[in-house]
Amino acid sequence: MAEVVTVFGATGSQGGGVANALLEDPKFNVRIVTRSASTDKAKALQERGAGVIEGNFDDASSLERALQGTYGTFVMTQHSFEDPNFDQLEIKQVTGVADAAKAAGVQHVVFSSLEDVQKIMGFPCLHYDSKAQIEDYMKSIGLPLTIVKYPGYYENYISLRLVQKLEDDTYEIAYPLEGAAKHGISVADAGFAVGAIFENRAEWLGRTVGFSADKLTIQQHADILSKHLAPRVFKPSKLKDLAEHQILECTSVFVHYPEHPSAVLRELNSLRKEAELTDVVLEVEGRGLKKL
Ligand SMILES: NC(=O)c1ccc[n+]([C@@H]2O[C@H](COP(=O)([O-])OP(=O)(O)OC[C@H]3O[C@@H](n4cnc5c(N)ncnc54)[C@H](OP(=O)(O)O)[C@@H]3O)[C@@H](O)[C@H]2O)c1
Repeated sequence: MAEVVTVFGATGSQGGGVANALLEDPKFNVRIVTRSASTDKAKALQERGAGVIEGNFDDASSLERALQGTYGTFVMTQHSFEDPNFDQLEIKQVTGVADAAKAAGVQHVVFSSLEDVQKIMGFPCLHYDSKAQIEDYMKSIGLPLTIVKYPGYYENYISLRLVQKLEDDTYEIAYPLEGAAKHGISVADAGFAVGAIFENRAEWLGRTVGFSADKLTIQQHADILSKHLAPRVFKPSKLKDLAEHQILECTSVFVHYPEHPSAVLRELNSLRKEAELTDVVLEVEGRGLKKL
């Protein structure tokens, strides 16, 4: 009989990729959790066969309902940078999910985490550090866990409005990495990799898996976009060229590092392959998975 996998965030980017991949897999019955079952996205997933539970990270009883009878769950977090205590709220919300998963006896929890910047680099990056704390909590209560780490998704160009039209056919990419290469992936491909992790629980339990489809500089991203979207021309922005609201909106990682913000992502990207951050990096290309 197909096993139930409950997907948090299925109406969004990460969880959407995971739900799509699992809906194609006859080994699983997909259950999604959303604050509103009446949105187009929730209805579309329901039409494709997903069970829909109305739930909220802030409502413990809805989390219990969502995870009852569940074999596996994909857990992501959500935060709003407008809330000054967003990291504490994120920790509170997802420890609630962890407790509900423990109580329900879920056999495989795949948690989308990020690096512990405070520990690795000696200064805080709140929405990374919060996830590392949640990860520690999940381990402390003995959840059967696989940690996955997404790099910046390509979909950010649209969802976070990272591209700004300047003049004529020139566009600027608000991702000031100053020549450093960054890992990237599409949430659709990452969703497929998460599906493969659920399928092979014994192989992936207890491991930390980084995802990467390529490692390119923003100039290389710009060159690809210019080639395929000619006559438009794309170029990377520099941090100093960004208005504060763009930095806040588009590159939230950078705001915590007023002195040399882009160093953080640069460092994390170069460190990500190292053993202390991930046990393995999965190179994901469509449905092809290769361990690096
Ligand atoms: N952007 C990147 O490149 C990147 C890379 C690595 C990690 N991340 C992390 O990914 C996370 C964001 O994921 P995403 O990009 O997939 O977000 P997203 O597209 O904005 O989707 C957010 C999802 O969270 C659900 N949600 C929001 N508040 C909720 C609540 N109170 N209770 C239950 N569900 C709730 C929404 O469901 P409903 O609206 O249907 O309720 C929606 O499905 C952040 O933690 C970010 O740090 C992002």
